Amino acid sequence: MLTSSGLDRILTLELVRVSERAAVAAARLRGRGDEKAADQVAVDAMRSELNRLAIRGTVVIGEGERDEAPMLYIGEEVGAGDGPVVDIALDPLEGTTLCAKNQPNSLAVIAIAEKGSLLNAPDVYMDKIAIGPGYPEGTINIDLSPTENITRLAKAKGVEIHHITACILDRPRHAKLIDEVRATGAAIRLIGDGDVAAIIDTTDPEATGIDIYLGTGGAPEGVLAAAALRCTGGQMQGRLILDTPEKVARAAKMGVADPKAIYRAEDLASGDVLFAATGVTDGNMLAGVKFTKNYIETHTIVMRSSSRTVREIIAKHQDPDKF
Ligand code: FBP
Repeated sequence: MLTSSGLDRILTLELVRVSERAAVAAARLRGRGDEKAADQVAVDAMRSELNRLAIRGTVVIGEGERDEAPMLYIGEEVGAGDGPVVDIALDPLEGTTLCAKNQPNSLAVIAIAEKGSLLNAPDVYMDKIAIGPGYPEGTINIDLSPTENITRLAKAKGVEIHHITACILDRPRHAKLIDEVRATGAAIRLIGDGDVAAIIDTTDPEATGIDIYLGTGGAPEGVLAAAALRCTGGQMQGRLILDTPEKVARAAKMGVADPKAIYRAEDLASGDVLFAATGVTDGNMLAGVKFTKNYIETHTIVMRSSSRTVREIIAKHQDPDKF
């Protein structure tokens, strides 16, 4: 059912079960060194819970194209077959390597939006820049240099540049970016994986210590992060990296008319958006799944763009057989 402000509000809470279920499944394989197995159990768990939701959903950001992903592939229809017609972006295990190595910030993530309001992003890289809420619109601009962006952010925050911390994926492709940011005097938090969590972290710099996210990561992850920012506030810009004619053609097939377009969070995820993420391993914002003798504990953040309500749900699941 659609309300005057978009999606049914009950769905917000229903969504928690979906990310919880995937996170618990993945967490059972934390630290086992097997990315594929952890991802597979998370996919299975998310899909079966999703199919109980009263929605008629289509996966637009998922596990890949139909021929490469047997489940939760792009175009797969999910849901119980009644309820609102929605588009879904998901990553049952974001940060597969983090989970396999039992390192911080792997998540189970899902966003639901009104039909047609999520960018159908191909699985290519995206150049991204993001900051949290509370800064004047236009504080960051992907066309400016990292130095200019960091200088503008420090000014908007009212601090010296050395009080700014940028989060960047630790990749050889970012060597120049890292050198330039270091030269500004800002600190860098280098992460091994997981830029959805990193972008969400910018929304609460006091808690996470991260003011700005910079660099290139997955385009599907960019849409998921944008869905979260739509709910928390904050600014983000992304540009697909379509550096071969094949990628341009693939993107065009998915509806990307301008290969050089700059997308704001509002363009990547427009309309009413619901977003949920459950921690798999401990992270800056979310605790990972805890297995105790009597219950399983999960920590989920769930939010909705039209009301900007952000809920954190710590659940004790006392019937472990359900998982
Ligand atoms: P996976 O969960 O698919 O392993 O993605 C993890 C991740 O770090 C994303 O958060 C990020 O957007 C992307 O990989 C970066 O890609 P690459 O590892 O190729 O640099």
